Amino acid sequence: PRSQFARYHIAPQKVHLSSSMIDPKLLPNRYFEHEVQQVLSENPELLSIYGNVQGDNQLRSEMSAYLKRSGVTSTPENILVTSGLQQSIDLVARTFVGPGDVVVMEAPTYPGAIDIFRGRGATILTVPVDKDGMRIDILQNVCEKHKPKVIFTIPTFHNPTGVVMSLKRRKQLLDIAGSIHSIIVEDDPCSEIYFEKKPPVTLKSMDQFGNVIYLRGLSKTIAPSCRIGILTASGSIFNRLLAAKANADLGSPLLTQKAILPLINSKRMIDHSKKLRTALKIRRDLALDLLTSLSPEGVSWTIPEGGLNLWISLPSWIDSHLLLSEAKKQQITFLPGSACYPVGQENNQ
Ligand SMILES: Cc1ncc(COP(=O)(O)O)c(C=O)c1O
Repeated sequence: PRSQFARYHIAPQKVHLSSSMIDPKLLPNRYFEHEVQQVLSENPELLSIYGNVQGDNQLRSEMSAYLKRSGVTSTPENILVTSGLQQSIDLVARTFVGPGDVVVMEAPTYPGAIDIFRGRGATILTVPVDKDGMRIDILQNVCEKHKPKVIFTIPTFHNPTGVVMSLKRRKQLLDIAGSIHSIIVEDDPCSEIYFEKKPPVTLKSMDQFGNVIYLRGLSKTIAPSCRIGILTASGSIFNRLLAAKANADLGSPLLTQKAILPLINSKRMIDHSKKLRTALKIRRDLALDLLTSLSPEGVSWTIPEGGLNLWISLPSWIDSHLLLSEAKKQQITFLPGSACYPVGQENNQ
């Protein structure tokens, strides 16, 4: 099937709003330049050896401590370093989803994940999202009827709506999935980017059944081009994902793993995260002010409490695809909402 996502993802324009990308000026580029040089001069053979398939040992230890700060308990043994969240989702899909298997996704959701599950031949069922995240009452019905193999969710600063799943719903989701032995995939690119209050605890930190695969990304806080993400899961679920990683690429590049190592748990990182939150909040407020003062009647939007996404609903007389063609003439791109719906089309977001 045609990939909607790929079509919108790579389109460098003057104002590029079609993927959740951070302004490079807000990321620690200078630091990395120095760190990469340092790593190579201290360890010139780094480029001539294979790293550990599971990820660099030191990095997995640092990541375990890093995840603890978000309430996720893990050991270096059950952490897998991947080449970004995108690969993590792909590994999960290759491992657990085959043709006809039912996958539940939020509607709307992250288009890059839709393409992956579609590519596996999954039957995708959707559950709508409201201001408190996935509608658990609807999920309950879907699960009773279809017993999905996988439930894919972005509970914190959801892509694309920006909403946060409430603690109550997180607990309900865990109970429902646990009772039917479904795997929950918790995709978490943005939980560190909160503007006021910290988001509720992760699903993974309340995982009693061992059926949550927690995916954490670093592209939104450190460096998208390092292509590093981490995944933690337990038991045979973890072992199967590790085998899939070996089949996919024999491990992520060592150079970038070593380069981020000193940063992960440093004071520099804590300061950087604080500054990032402030800078992005200022940008969010500016975007909201502009929307308030410039948008025509009938346009509404969510007010994200964190993350990078702003979800705008248009009145019925504005078609988002036509608006995009007009915007492109001014070298502005955005992602039409229809790309975020696994099933059916909505042309007013
Ligand atoms: C919800 C979500 N999942 C996954 C990804 C992919 O991230 P990565 O750069 O870590 O592969 C993104 C990037 O925008 C995202 O927003």
